[in-house]
Amino acid sequence: MRINENYKNLKESYLFSEIAARVEKFKSENPDKKIIRMGIGDVTLPLPQVVVEAGKKAFEEQAFSETFHGYGPEQGYDFLREAIRDYYKTFGVSLHMDEIFVSDGAKSDVGNVLDLFDKDNTVLIPNPVYPVYFDTNVMNGRKIIFAEGNKENNFLPMPSDEVKADIIYLCSPNNPTGAVYTKEQLEAWVKYALKNGSIILFDSAYEAFIQDEKLPRSIFSIEGAEKCAIEFCSLSKTAGFTGVRCGYTVVPEALEFEGMSLRKMWLRRQTTKFNGVSYPVQRAAQAVFSKEGIEQCRKNIAYYMENAKIITATMDKLNISYVGGENSPYVWLKCPGGMTSWEFFDKLLSEAAVVGTPGSGFGTAGEGYFRLTAFSSKEAAKEAMERLEKIF
Ligand code: MLT
Repeated sequence: MRINENYKNLKESYLFSEIAARVEKFKSENPDKKIIRMGIGDVTLPLPQVVVEAGKKAFEEQAFSETFHGYGPEQGYDFLREAIRDYYKTFGVSLHMDEIFVSDGAKSDVGNVLDLFDKDNTVLIPNPVYPVYFDTNVMNGRKIIFAEGNKENNFLPMPSDEVKADIIYLCSPNNPTGAVYTKEQLEAWVKYALKNGSIILFDSAYEAFIQDEKLPRSIFSIEGAEKCAIEFCSLSKTAGFTGVRCGYTVVPEALEFEGMSLRKMWLRRQTTKFNGVSYPVQRAAQAVFSKEGIEQCRKNIAYYMENAKIITATMDKLNISYVGGENSPYVWLKCPGGMTSWEFFDKLLSEAAVVGTPGSGFGTAGEGYFRLTAFSSKEAAKEAMERLEKIF
């Protein structure tokens, strides 16, 4: 038996596991300190009531043979896929039901989709970005190149004709920088992909945080994207589903490479390797897209965006430069005093008991930067910023 040697090329632990381990150590050494967590992008507000009711009702249905549900369709129940299709209509994107695949979250699908692609493809990954894109391709042993996000391009790298990439990852609003591509910028990426026969894997997990209506919430707002893109989204941040688990992936019917339909390949993959998301969770997810559900989710997002304002106001006051926080729950700041990302992490943790995420964990171009999330309570956000002011 031989192991997959590519795992030897991974960092020892996943970014957020490493942070959790450091925080646990700090906690055990400082049991009296009240730690404020602004590291992993995990929501804190409870689920909307309409969502809870729908989930409860669906679980109760499982108690009676007349309403009991066993295995569901691997692609997701029609009622949820219809709700997702109608949601996309609200921002001008029309999808067919067959193009929507319900999943347990964007992270799994972003990794699983690699089953469809040859190992010899070259992968273009923004730097900095969500570490899952890099790690999953390292596991597969693919050649990885980077598109650097920096201050000069507002952390929104653009395509270059000098670069040949087969698989391109885009994340907008970006995790970790919070930067959002404009329509024109996404058009340039779609143009590049169509010209080069590449595929765009578009992560829109933070689309619900976009406040500026001119900014695209889906790659499918761009003409031609249906021939070169797959979109991944999640209810984790949109509706507080980090502990419930539900997301969706859109694979257009028009997406064909080498005479093969990627939608059919993905369906084949899912029917073989995935038994679907549970019925109660899909009913709860359906309620997210109801009028009441959308209103409640918007209220929760508005609450988090207020926290983002508290964070950015403090950055302004301390003269610390940053991006994000406007159309995203993340604020991406330059570590003061030329500190490295992990130096800043340690200082913040040891002197203020505040946890953030070191920018270098999102790629080499993140070195010297730091990410704070707006997902805490308002009180915690305020207190964390007061503590920050004290140490700077
Ligand atoms: C993050 O903090 O970047 C996210 O919570 C990670 C995730 O969504 O998996």
